[in-house]
Amino acid sequence: MRALTWHGKHDVRMDTVPDPKIVNPRDAIIKITSTAICGSDLHLYDSMIPSMEKGDILGHEFMGEVVETGSGSTLVKGQRVVVPFVIACGKCFHCEKQQFSGCENSNPAETQDLGEVAYGTPMTGLFGYSHMTGGYAGGQAEYVRVPYSDVGPIVIPDGLEDEKVLFLSDILPTGWMASENCQIEPGDTVAVWGCGPVGLFAIQSALIQGAHKVIAIDHHPHRLELAAAMGAQVINYHDVKVREALMAMTGGIGPDACIDAVGMESHGFSIDNVVDAVKVATRLGTDRAHVLREVLMACRTGGRVSIPGVYGGMGDKIPIGALMEKGLQIRTGQTHVQKYLRPLLDLIGEGVIDTTFLISHRLPLESAPDGYKMFKENQNEVTKVVLKPDWRKEAA
Ligand SMILES: NC(=O)c1ccc[n+]([C@@H]2O[C@H](COP(=O)([O-])OP(=O)(O)OC[C@H]3O[C@@H](n4cnc5c(N)ncnc54)[C@H](O)[C@@H]3O)[C@@H](O)[C@H]2O)c1
Ligand SMILES: [Zn+2]
Ligand SMILES: [Zn+2]
Repeated sequence: MRALTWHGKHDVRMDTVPDPKIVNPRDAIIKITSTAICGSDLHLYDSMIPSMEKGDILGHEFMGEVVETGSGSTLVKGQRVVVPFVIACGKCFHCEKQQFSGCENSNPAETQDLGEVAYGTPMTGLFGYSHMTGGYAGGQAEYVRVPYSDVGPIVIPDGLEDEKVLFLSDILPTGWMASENCQIEPGDTVAVWGCGPVGLFAIQSALIQGAHKVIAIDHHPHRLELAAAMGAQVINYHDVKVREALMAMTGGIGPDACIDAVGMESHGFSIDNVVDAVKVATRLGTDRAHVLREVLMACRTGGRVSIPGVYGGMGDKIPIGALMEKGLQIRTGQTHVQKYLRPLLDLIGEGVIDTTFLISHRLPLESAPDGYKMFKENQNEVTKVVLKPDWRKEAA
């Protein structure tokens, strides 16, 4: 089959690779109909995530048709499914608590050591996201093997086309959980750093979950326009000082809740970010945590901080004093996607949530390397790239 493979920094290629096979009874094989490039994929593209190997198949946002099932799968051939990027067994201690991104069984023993050293516990299995998360082949391919297919995939009813539901695989539940982690109360102002797909869905979710006001921060004019179109007030951090602007917009006390939807690759030329950039470039550091610092400084006393943005290693210069003295609460984590699939599919079906506005580019899977380059280099206009393996058939 054809698949997008990683070969090094800014080097991804379409290769012909062996077709996936059923390995365990609970597996299913899915023929991909739509797959997307995520901001998290850019961390791999930029070589920020360790334990990638040449030839690894990328992609963790995908959906398709069931073409083969193991004896323990509950799926049926021909069903259309969206697959969560988190691989979870559904039966371990964390899965039973619905903390699916903490599943203890989905990362095989031989790839657990790096997580154990870096985080004090092995990571959970993720599709197409390095060997520290299990080394699973991803879904930017014609076919993919889906482990625990009786737990993860959600069957899509006829009539809901791919583009309406594809983002259930990751960014929609991620935006939703990011907002839920803010524990929004009536009257709340929620500030969201980053108007990429995660930030935009966090804005949409915060408004649905009852935020009185949402303030969105980025520097790409088009992304800020999308945020404004959803009803957010916007701050372009190139034009104004973010904390001062937030204070002015919140009667001088700061936002009730703050969402860091940027993570480890914060842009900007503040001194702390420049120092971080030099440290990352010389391998003396791992994360550019400028946004997290700004969030902790800006959030109101007693406020809530939600961090969906991915961080990978050790951050320094974190204003731990502000965190403690202001009594902030922090919630974060890889999304427990499985937990949110059913309620969010219902909201899509009822027309409460529409995600299609986000898609700026549709490309054949064969053009995936161009898709990565565009998404990396033109973030203003390229908000989301959807790849179609069956492009010719669909175009016909
Ligand atoms: N927790 C999870 O399970 C999960 C799932 C998906 C994505 N993520 C992470 O969420 C983050 C966002 O994902 P995305 O797909 O929206 O990425 P993206 O790269 O498309 O968007 C990030 C946005 O942040 C903006 N930004 C950069 N520096 C900023 C600053 N100093 N202030 C304000 N905005 C700034 C950029 O301009 C960009 O628009 C990434 O770190 C991604 O890895 C986490
Ligand atoms: Zn993703
Ligand atoms: Zn589990």
